[in-house]
Amino acid sequence: MGRTLMLGVWLLVLFPVALSERCHPDDKKALLQLKKELKNPYILASWNPNEDCCEWYCVKCDEKTNRIYVLDISSSVPETNLSGQIPPSVGDLPYLEYLTFHKLPHLVGPIQPTIAKLTKLKSIFITYTGISGPVPHFLAQLKNLELIKLSFNSLSGTIPGSLYQLPNLTSLQLDRNHLTGPIPGSLGSFKKPGPDLILSHNNLSGPIPASLGKLDPERIDLSRNKLEGDASILFGSNKRTQILDLSRNMLEFDFSPLKFPSKSLIWLDLNHNNIYGTIPVALTKVENLQHFNVSYNHRLTGKIPQAGQLQRFDKYSYFHTKLCGSPLPPCNNNH
Ligand SMILES: *[C@@H]1O[C@H](CO)[C@@H](O)[C@H](O)[C@H]1NC(C)=O
Ligand SMILES: *[C@@H]1O[C@H](CO)[C@@H](O)[C@H](O)[C@H]1NC(C)=O
Ligand SMILES: *[C@@H]1O[C@H](CO)[C@@H](O)[C@H](O)[C@H]1NC(C)=O
Ligand SMILES: *[C@@H]1O[C@H](CO)[C@@H](O)[C@H](O)[C@H]1NC(C)=O
Repeated sequence: MGRTLMLGVWLLVLFPVALSERCHPDDKKALLQLKKELKNPYILASWNPNEDCCEWYCVKCDEKTNRIYVLDISSSVPETNLSGQIPPSVGDLPYLEYLTFHKLPHLVGPIQPTIAKLTKLKSIFITYTGISGPVPHFLAQLKNLELIKLSFNSLSGTIPGSLYQLPNLTSLQLDRNHLTGPIPGSLGSFKKPGPDLILSHNNLSGPIPASLGKLDPERIDLSRNKLEGDASILFGSNKRTQILDLSRNMLEFDFSPLKFPSKSLIWLDLNHNNIYGTIPVALTKVENLQHFNVSYNHRLTGKIPQAGQLQRFDKYSYFHTKLCGSPLPPCNNNH
């Protein structure tokens, strides 16, 4: 073995990081700045400047480019001392595809505007934090986004109508915030089938736009809002809906003529609305219905069809209506 090579081997043994570091210096610089801006929280204790940042917790480097493509700061312990706002330096990780802040109750302030620079982003996942302010319009410019999940925060304002411009979005989850205003009609312009729409536990009001009938996602949850009017455009035998939850709104439409996706539907919850008419016989053809609730629709009337899955559910799926027949008491002759 030549002397030079021998020296190299010794250097590797003595200074393994310096010679074998995969981490890109720009990414390392941005991450150390981010740690500083967060005031050195315990959760980032492994971010030691003398070590390869590809080995740090909460990040992942791409195998080929060695650039940071995942930043996932998720706490499993409620007493995490990470506090303050999302640092601006998060925008200096240009190869980031997956960004997660999860279970950080002391993370506050708005969704950081520098996130608009992360054009490779596929997933933004900010959940169970103290983040407030609006759902930013700039998300519509991040064309690679596949998942937007901003559940369990304190976001307010309206849903940006521009989000329909995201061609690859498969899931839009804005549930459990303080969002107000209508569901924008432009969301019906998502490329079909459109993303799962999880908008529950907000203060959304007004009608469900008819344009949403053009979409066909697997999951729609608009429960616990203040939506009113007709929702029948969300039903149909040719859809592939699995979960449809419209409970606890002020929706008012005739249930009798509706058709259902008999192969796919497993969850239908309409409780606490003002839906009228009868339970359609078409519902008995839904093979895999596992959850069904029409309670507290005081104007629903007539006999519950005695077939299919409809007797699987107990009286609490049907109570506070004018329905009769199993699992409710038998209909009297007046029915
Ligand atoms: C969080 O805790 C670590 C370790 O106890 C400490 O070094 C750090 O300064 C704390 N950070 C904040 C923002 O309180
Ligand atoms: C969307 O997904 C397709 C197919 O996976 C991919 O080719 C494309 O680059 C993605 N991004 C955009 C902006 O269309
Ligand atoms: C909805 O609005 C009411 C009345 O303004 C308020 O009390 C309630 O907390 C709001 N709910 C949400 C989820 O923001
Ligand atoms: C149906 O909804 C009502 C009202 O929220 C609730 O009391 C009942 O437990 C629900 N039934 C089922 C089976 O979920």
